[in-house]
Amino acid sequence: MGHRGAKALAPENTLASMKAAAAAGVSWVEFDVMLTGDGQPVLFHDETLRRTTGARGDMDRTPLSELRGLDATRHFTQKYSRRAGKRFKGQPDCRVPTLEETAACLLDLGLTPNVEIKPTRGLAAETAEVALTRLRKLWPADRPAPLVSSFERESLAASRRVAPDWPRGLLAEDFPADWREALAELDCASFHMYWRRTRRAEVAAVKAAGYAFAVYTVNGVRAGRRLLDKGVDCLITDRPDLLVPALAG
Ligand code: G3P
Ligand code: MG
Repeated sequence: MGHRGAKALAPENTLASMKAAAAAGVSWVEFDVMLTGDGQPVLFHDETLRRTTGARGDMDRTPLSELRGLDATRHFTQKYSRRAGKRFKGQPDCRVPTLEETAACLLDLGLTPNVEIKPTRGLAAETAEVALTRLRKLWPADRPAPLVSSFERESLAASRRVAPDWPRGLLAEDFPADWREALAELDCASFHMYWRRTRRAEVAAVKAAGYAFAVYTVNGVRAGRRLLDKGVDCLITDRPDLLVPALAG
């Protein structure tokens, strides 16, 4: 599964990133969904605009109309490639996309989304409600259902109310002591955790209880192979160009 599209190949959480993920051969893409200041669901990871767009301000105070003018290539250019960044800069598919635009793009590309609900403060339920209500209007019933994940249990509870038939995944940085109760309570299909803290016995326990196990964000082939050997079902990666040819299938 590509992470924020394919974060190392194109600016994260943009349509360009979804296209890069598809070109690298993944069938799923993860991205983060947040509400703008005027309540519109867009793809964005941080509460502030600076890292990816260079603009000042907070997402929960910025209306969609203002966000539309911003270019989201800054972090990619600084971290990965100045030369590729120059090519991406100013491209229409490198702006902050709405969830609706993204759904149309993924349908064209034949990709299935892992929608991570990433609420700003106080909007855990509302972010899930708005995002999933919109997405359900657009996502055809004959396509594989989106997977909805979140670190926020309140967001998953809201997802269950709005989209009970779409699978849910609980995210965690560390393996939670109450994993069994939480996954049952939220009626999850999967558990997703930080790859470096993933232990073989915990993967086995979660899988024996009937859930899929995903890990983020794995960018090396050797690490990916070790995780698959531990029984992990899904590697969420910034580098599908490396991991798909080496490990898929
Ligand atoms: O969904 C997996 C991963 O994206 C969770 O962490 O901070 O990259 O959204 P983060
Ligand atoms: Mg994420």
